[in-house]
Amino acid sequence: MRIKKVLVSGGAGYIGTHTCIELIDAGYDIICADNFSNSSPVAMKRVEQITGARIPVHRMDFCKLDEVEALFREEAIDAAIHFAGYKAVGESVAKPLMYYENNLLSLINLCKAMGRNTARNIVFSSSATVYGLSDRLPLTEETPTEAYSSYGRTKLYIEEILKDLHAAEPGWNMSVLRYFNPVGAHPSGLIGEDPADIPNNLMPYIAQVAVGRLEKLRIFGDDYDTPDGTGVRDFIHVVDLARGHVAALRKLEEEPGYTVHNLGTGKGCSVLELVHAFERVNNVPIPYEITARRPGDVAANYASTDKARRELGWEATHTIDDMVRDTWNWQSKNPNGYRDATE
Ligand code: UFG
Repeated sequence: MRIKKVLVSGGAGYIGTHTCIELIDAGYDIICADNFSNSSPVAMKRVEQITGARIPVHRMDFCKLDEVEALFREEAIDAAIHFAGYKAVGESVAKPLMYYENNLLSLINLCKAMGRNTARNIVFSSSATVYGLSDRLPLTEETPTEAYSSYGRTKLYIEEILKDLHAAEPGWNMSVLRYFNPVGAHPSGLIGEDPADIPNNLMPYIAQVAVGRLEKLRIFGDDYDTPDGTGVRDFIHVVDLARGHVAALRKLEEEPGYTVHNLGTGKGCSVLELVHAFERVNNVPIPYEITARRPGDVAANYASTDKARRELGWEATHTIDDMVRDTWNWQSKNPNGYRDATE
């Protein structure tokens, strides 16, 4: 079937906003739904500014079934891309019930409301976290899954829920996308990552050190079995990641059933390499100190990208230099994220 109207849950978030832009560029009509618990309405205004499109935005909570059902009654939705969810690993360990309730219930409600449709197409944001502590690289979609945080388990359980639902009702088309480490920003510098608190993740931390909001980066360990001793990750530009969702939607139009794909570059980059690339490309110093390893971190991970290339016809094209340049373009133009915006 031809997908026309796409619901983007969590559409005002970091990956959501970038995906809205790529969907509009690809000719889809989109509806954004967000409760703005960890995002700003300003971000959607910026998406409208970039695309010239007017985007219907529904402020709503996917944990409330009546709100989700009302949305589906109101709009003829052909497909949903489900970004809405909590995503901080450390917080999930401290507040497991909050994570299970929010992440699982919102997905279940979305499926319940969508289940009454003839069009049952869903793209789900999973994560490379489902590969657990596996050190068999590259990670392929066949690598055994395992979770080591409540957050990771919500991703894994949702993959299983979708698989069961597809087995019970084969009319569903589901694309599970396992993201590696999304970084970077739209080249306009109008949208980017804007963590509410002190960042947990490396790139936003580097960006906030660069702009003077944080004093120095702490590098968690330089004694790993990697070329320079620091952790190695598969950093992927958020614009490439967003385009992966467009490729996944196109695949759903061919009704493939239940599929799983990695979205990564296939290339590992160490923490120190990323820091030095940021300094070199942007000509900004990043003071850092080496501290102890962070519990739960693997030495290295990176994706096998063969399946996504073969089946989705998609691959990442942005380099590490593009990622650090676009991150700095966003952060230097918006030192406090969306907080200072006047629109
Ligand atoms: N790191 C630092 N200092 C920091 C932050 C991170 O040295 O202040 C290091 C980490 O130790 C790791 C690397 O930078 O070696 C990347 O860490 P991130 O926190 O940026 O990313 P992770 O790979 O730990 O986490 C990402 C996603 C999670 C997902 C996880 C596993 O953010 O959602 O991958 O796939 F669960």
